[in-house]
Amino acid sequence: MSVILGVTSSIAAYKSLDLVSRLLKRGLDVEVIMSENATNFVSPEAFSALTKHKTSVLTFDKNINYDVKHISLAQKAEVFAIVPATANVIAKVAHGISDDMLTTTFLACDCPKIIAPAMNTKMYENPITKDNLKLCQKYGMKIIEPAVGHLACGDVGKGHLASLDDLEDAIVSELYPKPLAHKKIVVTAGATKEKIDPVRFITNYSSGKMGVSLARAAKYLGADVTLLINKDTNLVLPYGIKVAYFESVDDLFELSKANFEKADGFVMCAAVSDYKVKTYSDEKIKKGGELHLELEKTVDILEYLGKHKGNQKLCGFAMETARDDLKLARDKFKRKHCDLLVLNNLKEEGAGFRGDTNVVTLIDEKKDEKLPLGSKSELAFEIIRRLMGVE
Ligand code: C5P
Repeated sequence: MSVILGVTSSIAAYKSLDLVSRLLKRGLDVEVIMSENATNFVSPEAFSALTKHKTSVLTFDKNINYDVKHISLAQKAEVFAIVPATANVIAKVAHGISDDMLTTTFLACDCPKIIAPAMNTKMYENPITKDNLKLCQKYGMKIIEPAVGHLACGDVGKGHLASLDDLEDAIVSELYPKPLAHKKIVVTAGATKEKIDPVRFITNYSSGKMGVSLARAAKYLGADVTLLINKDTNLVLPYGIKVAYFESVDDLFELSKANFEKADGFVMCAAVSDYKVKTYSDEKIKKGGELHLELEKTVDILEYLGKHKGNQKLCGFAMETARDDLKLARDKFKRKHCDLLVLNNLKEEGAGFRGDTNVVTLIDEKKDEKLPLGSKSELAFEIIRRLMGVE
């Protein structure tokens, strides 16, 4: 798969080297086109060394083969991202000006396009730049908003290039077909925490990785995604989704109810505590003799959603340790009115909490199917596709 990266003359140009190497690690073919001014910040050879393609700068390069390079590049590109994009290049591409290799190829290209601005705050906030960015959006380009941060000029404000995680995510996402466009998918992820007293709580080992992978897969496939995740997560969350945070089961229950009605798909991947303390202690419980905590059951969110569902496709997870896990999981599938249940057994090599891989069995009305060991990100695509019935 082929990505063209346009690099223009912002101090953030050096970050594009990192971005290129991330894209290459994903097996993508990357070609770089620089504006002439950008070569003052980073040498074209640095990009060539990484991409194994000659970095283009000039439209009429006397050392290249006799083909119309801006057209041949434009034809092969599956996504074209300008990172970093200066106010100057934004103005040019908004108005169809094509006076160098970068802007000429950009204009000749009809693949998805991404613009990641990076500039001084005043330039970014200038109504002319704002209008140009709106024009770019009108023509279908995606704008990856800059962040607030310390700028090279010493100012602090908006204009800092978006994070490499977001840039990588946004570019890779464009390479996927979008069978879930206009569908709303909610994913819950991570562990709940039930407070015992101001310093202690009941939780579990769930890292949220499977849930975050599911949210990312749904986003890549075009869905409008809401992720409900534990407050203290430190995972990199997918670019361009809505996020709401929970701590306790009750928080998650409220968020789930609030997001359920409008959802087309709801994936209950969070590891929800089955019990909470009956009485929370406002003061720290002092050390003494034996301590007995009285626990009560928490609300079963998935079961509640199953009972109240309309056309939503509902996916539950079952984390088992028992040998007869399939029977338990099928019971759960029925009791919780799921459309799909994903079973994983903690005792299986490569499955379960915290790791980057999983072994899952997909259970639906008709059959059980055990999938081979896979990365959580690969499995996430399979689960979302199955749930929503898309290829
Ligand atoms: O019955 P069990 O807790 O094993 O079922 C697991 C599934 O139910 C998971 O999808 C989990 O997110 C969900 N669950 C829930 N509310 C609970 C407990 C589990 O929604 N209180």
